[in-house]
Order: sequence, then structure tokens, then C-alpha cells
Amino acid sequence: MTATLSRAAWASNFSQNAVEFDRTGLELISGQIPAALKGSLYRNGPGRFSRGREEIGHWFDGDGAILAVHFGEGKAEGLYRYVQTQGYTEEEEAGRYLYGNYGMVDPQGVWHYWKSLFSQNDVLKNAANTSVIALPDRLLALWEAGHPYALNLENLATLGREDFGGAFQPGQPFSAHPLRDPLTGEIFSIGVDFQFNLNLYRLDGQGNLLKHRRLKLSRTPFCHSFCLAGRYLILFLPPITLNQFSLLLGNVAYADALGWDAEGGTKVLVIDRQTLEIVSEGETESWFQWHYGNGCELEDGNVRLDFVRFSDFAQTNEYLREVPTGAVKTSTNGQLWQAILNPQTAKIVELTKVLDRSGEFPVVNPQRTGQPWRYTYMALQRPAVILGSQWFGEIARIDYHTGDVITAKLGEYQYPVEPLYIPHPDDGDRGWIITVVYDGDRHGSEVWLWDADRLQEEPICRLALPEVIPFSFHGTWRST
Ligand SMILES: [Fe+2]
Repeated sequence: MTATLSRAAWASNFSQNAVEFDRTGLELISGQIPAALKGSLYRNGPGRFSRGREEIGHWFDGDGAILAVHFGEGKAEGLYRYVQTQGYTEEEEAGRYLYGNYGMVDPQGVWHYWKSLFSQNDVLKNAANTSVIALPDRLLALWEAGHPYALNLENLATLGREDFGGAFQPGQPFSAHPLRDPLTGEIFSIGVDFQFNLNLYRLDGQGNLLKHRRLKLSRTPFCHSFCLAGRYLILFLPPITLNQFSLLLGNVAYADALGWDAEGGTKVLVIDRQTLEIVSEGETESWFQWHYGNGCELEDGNVRLDFVRFSDFAQTNEYLREVPTGAVKTSTNGQLWQAILNPQTAKIVELTKVLDRSGEFPVVNPQRTGQPWRYTYMALQRPAVILGSQWFGEIARIDYHTGDVITAKLGEYQYPVEPLYIPHPDDGDRGWIITVVYDGDRHGSEVWLWDADRLQEEPICRLALPEVIPFSFHGTWRST
């Protein structure tokens, strides 16, 4: 089959804006829902790609839509809702775009942009489109350059801006990649504001802010995620530059003001998770990463972590700009790497490529977050005709003890998103992998569930969703 046909098949996923649906029972396509599977899957991603004739400028611009699938008693019910952000509701009413975004110039002009920059308003529209975290009484829709939005866990009704009990200012950033320590229940997060301040947060399991520290970054205009490794938070800060002058002129979108200093080196920042103070700072060769798999302390005092490494920022950013157009010309080249570093000096003592395949979204069993772990799961691109320019076609499990890699190979026109690990409620050694698959053949979306140890076998069950779900970025599982 030619690359053109494959590309057309996944590109149809973006052919229309997300269509919401009310809570509805999901039809079983194959297999059986395990009786022990009790809880909810939540996924967040850009759902709206155009208003009238106007199209988004970058995939990151799409307004967030949340899919919830509630499992229990061998059944599943799903619902799908846009996050009712201030920007989304205003633009719905106006019937056109009103705000600047990551890849879109502010249509209200440079004065509006400046006013936002020097006030406590959102500088860009908060798209609430990147991830979610489930607190005991609410779901937070996350976007890295602003505050979260709180939603009802059951019906996804938007409750409003989340200010963590009044602790946050209106536009204060809270990243889309908070991490929960499974041992203490504490939640850690970061957030880079438009003045290049890196905010570090520690919260309790209910979402109450326990500690906040602000550090000034010398150059990095954003930091997508970080890693929890035992007593430390680890941040790699790649050499991304920002042309503030062109941004202030108001005719260039944020994404277009970003650049790459290939000789600049990636900074390594080690933070004490308790005090949120810097333990050490270092620098290594230049690379870019969006995501970490996991991290832990080793017996010798070093820290081990894995992440998906890109050779530079420009290429992955361009790929992500092109994806919703369906006409991808740029290859993406993310590969899983492992680093061993000394947390007292921030020196990397070992850096190895784990898997020679292009992929993204590394995840682990959330009960192992920050602790020694054996398996990392991730989405892989098929060994495609045009290497790296396709959507994902496999889910892999990498076994760090044996070096074995097992994969779930989906059908030629079936495309998964990020896999999530669901721990088995009664057996700590077992779990499931869940993802949402777009079937380009029948233009439909499905929920697929595998036994985490048997990815190479048929899924345990496949469930049909009533509408196409545009590819989502991240999600979470909440056991009940
Ligand atoms: Fe992410």
C-alpha cells in the first residue's frame, strides 16, 4: 500500500471539528470488559480546528475536548464535551476567533496582545487542551501556559477556572504534566510564565497548594514537562530561543518566534522535591524532549530516567503544526533514551538510546512513578514508507530487565494515541493498557484494552464510540 493512502486514512481523523455526545452505553465490538475494571478513562485533546473559514495555525491551538469513559459491572459508558473556557465560550458566541494562540496571531491586534502581556489576563487563549488530572472531587483540564479548568468528574460540566483555593493568580501557569507520587499522594507540577519564571509547585492529594517557589530562567521560553525521581524533580531545559522583538511587533505567532540554538546545550536542573530548591545545575549536549517516561534513584545515589529525545525543536514543532492539515512533509524523529545522572552535580554519567524506532508518549504504571520500574510503554510509528511522517500504528512495551520489546500491531488503517497503564485492583503485578484508536477505514473511533503483558495478542475488548474523537494528547485513569 502506498504512503499516500496511509496518510489520507489517518488525516481523515481531522476532517471535522469534534462532535460532543451525551453519556451513552458503548457497543462492544469484540471481547469482553473485565469485571475487575472499575473506574474512568479521561482523555484531552484539541477538538476544534476551524471557525467558519478560519483554521487554526498549529495543532496546539485547538480548543480542548474531553472524552470520559466510565467502566463498571462489565459495561462502559462514554461522553464527550468541550471545555467551556472563557475563550471558547466567547468565540462560540462571536462565531469567529478572538484570541491569539500558540500558532495564531492575536486577531485583536498588538495592543490587545500587549495589554494581556502586562496584565494578569491570559496572554494567549487558554485552550485547556493538553491533559487532565483527576482530584478526588474534580477533574482538571490542563494547558501549560495558564491555569487549569475544573470539571465535574461524572458529566464533564465545566465548573470554572481552578485557582487551588485562591492560591493562584488568574493567568498563573500550571503545566499539563503534573506528577503524583503514589506513595505520599503529593502532586508536583511546574509552570513557565511569559516573563520566563519557572514556577515549581507541591500540592497535597486534594489539590491544596503546599509549597510554591519561583525561579528565573535565563532563556528557556517554555518547559513542557519534568520527571520525578525519588527525592528529586529533574528538568531538562533545551536551548529554545524566543524572538521577543518580533513577538512584540504583534505580527508573528508565538510558535513562529521560537528558535533553536543548536550549540546552546540542554540545561539539567535538579530540584529537591521537599524544599523545591535547586540541588544542582549542569549542562549537556543539545536535544529537545517533550516527555519523560519515568525516573528513580539508584542504589549508588545516581538517578535514572527515560525520555523521548528529538535532535532539535524545530522539526518536531513543524511536524505538529502540519499534523492537523493531514499533509505532513516534515519527519519526526523522537526516540526513547535513558540517562543516568548524578543529582549532586547534575552531570550525566550515561546516555543511551533504548529503542531505534520513532515514537512518543512514554508512560509507566502510575504506581511506579518516581520509583524503580521495569516497563515503559509508548506509541510507535510503523516502519513506514516515509519514515517518521505517519501517525502511530503500534503500542510497545520495553522491558528494561530483559531488553525485550513486545508490540501491539494495529491494522493498517488503525491509529492509536498515547497508551495508559491501568493497575489491576487486586493484583499488583498485573494491569491493562488502554488507548483510543481511530479506524480510518470506517471513519470511527474505538476504545481498545489489552492485557499489559500480552500486547502482541488481540485486545481484551474493543468498544465503539458514537463519534470520531480527534487524536488526543494525554489522559488519565481514575479507579473507583
Ligand atoms: Fe505532553
